[in-house]
Amino acid sequence: MSLIPKETVDQIIAQADIVEVVGDFVSLKKKGQNMWACCPFHHEKSPSFSVSPAKGIYKCFGCGKAGNSVQFIMDVEGTSFPEALKYLAKKYGIEVPEEQANPEYAKEQSDRDSLFIVSDFANKHYQQNLTQHEQGGIGQAYLKERGISGNTIRKFELGYSLDGWSDFTDAALKAGYKQQYLEATGLTIVKDDKRYDRFRARVMFPIHNVSGRVVGFGARTLKSNDKKSPKYLNSPESDIYHKSNVLYGLFQAKQAMRMQDLCYLVEGYLDVISLHQGGIENVVASSGTSLTEGQIKLIARYTQNITVLYDGDAAGVKASLRGIDLILENGLNVNVVTFPEGDDPDSYIQKVGDEAFKKYVREHSQDFISFKTSLYAAEAQGNPVKKAEAIREIVTSIAKIPDSIKRTVFFQSCSLIFDIDEQLLISEYNKMQLQGRQQQQQPKTGSPEEDYFDYEQAALAAEAAEYETDTNENDALKRYEREIVRMLLSYPDRLLEDGITTSHYILEQLEDIEFQTPIYRRLVEIVKDKLNQGILPSADDFINYPDNEIRTETTNLLSDPYELSPNWATHQIYVPHESDLLPYGTERAVLRLKFRYLESVVNIEAGKLKLVTDPQEQITQITYVMSLKKLHKQMGDMLGIVVFK
Ligand code: UTP
Ligand code: MN
Repeated sequence: MSLIPKETVDQIIAQADIVEVVGDFVSLKKKGQNMWACCPFHHEKSPSFSVSPAKGIYKCFGCGKAGNSVQFIMDVEGTSFPEALKYLAKKYGIEVPEEQANPEYAKEQSDRDSLFIVSDFANKHYQQNLTQHEQGGIGQAYLKERGISGNTIRKFELGYSLDGWSDFTDAALKAGYKQQYLEATGLTIVKDDKRYDRFRARVMFPIHNVSGRVVGFGARTLKSNDKKSPKYLNSPESDIYHKSNVLYGLFQAKQAMRMQDLCYLVEGYLDVISLHQGGIENVVASSGTSLTEGQIKLIARYTQNITVLYDGDAAGVKASLRGIDLILENGLNVNVVTFPEGDDPDSYIQKVGDEAFKKYVREHSQDFISFKTSLYAAEAQGNPVKKAEAIREIVTSIAKIPDSIKRTVFFQSCSLIFDIDEQLLISEYNKMQLQGRQQQQQPKTGSPEEDYFDYEQAALAAEAAEYETDTNENDALKRYEREIVRMLLSYPDRLLEDGITTSHYILEQLEDIEFQTPIYRRLVEIVKDKLNQGILPSADDFINYPDNEIRTETTNLLSDPYELSPNWATHQIYVPHESDLLPYGTERAVLRLKFRYLESVVNIEAGKLKLVTDPQEQITQITYVMSLKKLHKQMGDMLGIVVFK
């Protein structure tokens, strides 16, 4: 567990200038008091993302993301709170003295740092070989033949390792790097007092972690039919390279993944690179290994939607089906595209061109369960034994889906494709569930957890726990209604940043919602009446209101201590005062209330499902409930609440 001393945290927060920090990612234009840009968190054509230099915060009026410099880095880089602090510390040259926490940990950290530094040196060395060494011409010619442009080579930092035994090792030792670290990264192999380079005469593909540091390499031989050495060699596992937690291309893809809300998953280095070059930037590769849970969680930081792009051969497809079940298990949505026999995404885009490729992907993208069902259905034609197997196989996949409504939809489509009774599928599913429960739950294999305390996760967990324990819906609603009314009465006439008052904003936003708590309903009605008469109410109007109940409630509300956002409180970030962050605060309060209301609507509509018998009506209702759930989840995401249900 890493400890960043509080003084350092404060120093970083004080020095991190919001305009400079955000300015590294988007180009800001000054308009009035604030700076504006197109939002880096969602797709838009006109800017609704604002930065307030005075308040040190950013805020998007389109998607609702908001916070200070640290929050911005967490959002844009998808990192934890301590990682974001370290990023800012680096930018501002502030030393983070976390070593003091624990000498052993400090040693580990500095060893890890040495591995990063050596990998970075190697990366630059290989790039220089490619562009400046006479042997590099061989590598360049190869890449050219594969259709890779100079720009793409630079973007992915491709390099070349020389033909010879120890070009890299010699250079690194000469530059002062310790053999110990060269060996620990796997770049140098030491055997009986002899040292030699792991990678020789190969095109080098550096592998970056999420924050862009090189952690390892993939290396392709140029000899097309040398049976003795493998086509690709990869760096071994090391303290900085855990294969199950790295995705090739993620660093270059993450921004586009968030914007498109989609991730293309391919197999190889060149698939990623060719697609990128063709303008499809939201693409990553598992690089030859089967997909792990750690990798899926990495993708899930940016999007919940994965489209798997498969090679054309059937054997490959079947081998990867297991990995896809794992994606389903993690609650993500999966689509599949297969390419004509003999082609992989790289060869196909090089053959048909960018536009035809995109069109092909659009037209051949198929939901995974339907894809798997058709695949097995074709095989099982007229063979009852195979058919039974196939059905079990598909029900296994469907059973992995955590969302019961999605499961229902898939049972329906599966029953149509196989032309069998949906009830049969469901009873097969129930049998499986029963067996699963009787067997001891297998411990989940996967990545070792990262070894620091994750503040972001803690904050999310706290909010989720609150959400879970808030079982009494009415109590929760009442609390959120109270919060809205409190803001309404505290700042009724204050102007929000987009030029309307708090009262106007809240009433407009909650137009369709009827307050459940009688006293709050009354208060809202009073505000509404005043506004309709063209009068802007003020807090005094309520404190001096003729009705005793209104007066008492107003006084109670106005003497409430203001609430800190739970995220920020956990991060020990000093929030100046609620009234300084009013646009953010009101928007969040409104969102919370809507989130709660939507939840009751979802429950009511889902309850109706049981009563509908007509299949067409069922589908309509399921689609409706699914869209409500999606909206509910999106709102939860905006609020930092993880919706489990
Ligand atoms: P492929 O053999 O499909 O290679 O392996 P490819 O990407 O199409 O390569 P090109 O187009 O012939 O250059 C897919 C991925 O599997 C891993 C690599 O990550 C590769 O990109 N792989 C493959 C290895 O790690 N080692 C190997 O020997 C072969
Ligand atoms: Mn290929």
